[in-house]
Amino acid sequence: MHSPVRNDIERVLIDEAVIGKRLDSMAADIEHDFPEGRLLVIILLKGALVFAADLLRRVPHLLEIECLNVASYHGGTESSGKVDFLDRHFPEVRGRRVLLLDDILDTGRTLRAVQDRLLTEGAAEVRTGVLLAKDKARAEEVEADYVGFEIEDEFVVGYGLDFMGRYRNLPYIGVLKRSAI
Ligand code: IMP
Ligand code: MG
Repeated sequence: MHSPVRNDIERVLIDEAVIGKRLDSMAADIEHDFPEGRLLVIILLKGALVFAADLLRRVPHLLEIECLNVASYHGGTESSGKVDFLDRHFPEVRGRRVLLLDDILDTGRTLRAVQDRLLTEGAAEVRTGVLLAKDKARAEEVEADYVGFEIEDEFVVGYGLDFMGRYRNLPYIGVLKRSAI
């Protein structure tokens, strides 16, 4: 089948079925760790959109969901080192148990900055979940409580992750062809 978005992919790193299975067990872990529910989930846009949508539909608790727009990458494949909060309003998190979801843990700057901000805003507890974690030294000391997959330090797209705003709608995690970069 002709697929313009798939044509740019060199190889599939993690296919849809494998992601689905992993999300089943991540959701079970979250259900187990928060037996009383009452979680406020914060989704970092746009990267965690697909992951969060698929994960949260597997969690049977009463959840509230908020989204935050942050920018740490400004286009290319390297982190800029600075995290900007782009929303005019910050969600009310005072006293809440928060589960923060992002697509990928790379340098750690994004999770660190958002986690710090949530605690500054009065969150009672912040746990973190990511679909992917790169196996590398982090610029910031931070680890995620829930990790879908550990991957090598290479640039990946799909399942929410983008390159220059594209490829988020690929249903799997893939590596781009050189010609697409
Ligand atoms: P960190 O702040 O360096 O940990 O980077 C986190 C953000 O960088 C993620 O939310 C992604 O938007 C982006 N990012 C890091 N690595 C990749 C990648 O391999 N592909 C696509 N985006 C990435
Ligand atoms: Mg991104």
